[in-house]
Amino acid sequence: PDIALIRARLLDWYDRHARSLAWRAPPGTRQRPDPYRVWLSEVMLQQTTTPHATPYFQTFTSRWPTVSDLAAAQDAEVMAAWAGLGYYARARNLLACARAVAGEHGGVFPDTEAGLSALPGVGAYTAAAVAAIAFDRPANVVDGNVERVMARLFAVETPVPQARPELRRLAGLFINDQRPGDWAQALMDLGATVCRPKSPLCDLCPIADPCAGRASGDPERYPVKTKK
Ligand code: ADE
Repeated sequence: PDIALIRARLLDWYDRHARSLAWRAPPGTRQRPDPYRVWLSEVMLQQTTTPHATPYFQTFTSRWPTVSDLAAAQDAEVMAAWAGLGYYARARNLLACARAVAGEHGGVFPDTEAGLSALPGVGAYTAAAVAAIAFDRPANVVDGNVERVMARLFAVETPVPQARPELRRLAGLFINDQRPGDWAQALMDLGATVCRPKSPLCDLCPIADPCAGRASGDPERYPVKTKK
């Protein structure tokens, strides 16, 4: 497939159809979003969907507008505000990370994937997502949406989870230094709204014609799962 063409089509689609989400910079402003807000949203979104996370995101950012404010909060207050998002280890990691940024980095997030990865509780996915979205660093941001889009686009027959490294390699083919943050979010938005798990809306998809999954007649079969 023509990687450059797919990139151009999907970025153009994103320019027209990006979801307006609380942690994104206003569309068309070409402003970088606040790294604190990007990091907080990515940690919340590993836990839950965008509609469920949004009110929590609003509460956190009004109570603790900066990472240093969050770092100074009492553990119990943050745990209470997290209630309903589940998996409290994430809230503990969140505080540990906020305190490291405030205490060791003067309240400023590191601006590289490697620097972000060195923060407590920041895994490979979060480091890549924040590097790309907040700092426009070329990083391979692979979540479940991106895996599904790649599995369909290339009609990957290997079942998940074995296919994960291959799906990551395929996603990496599209990474370059042009608009890495928009690219990552374009894939996520496509996966969430068009290339959705059930009943994908191929008629609305900007990359339907090079899509091998669509050509197969049964895009929903991808990513292939092992029979239970
Ligand atoms: N899921 C995780 N991060 C996201 C983002 N930045 N935009 C949309 N969906 C997401």
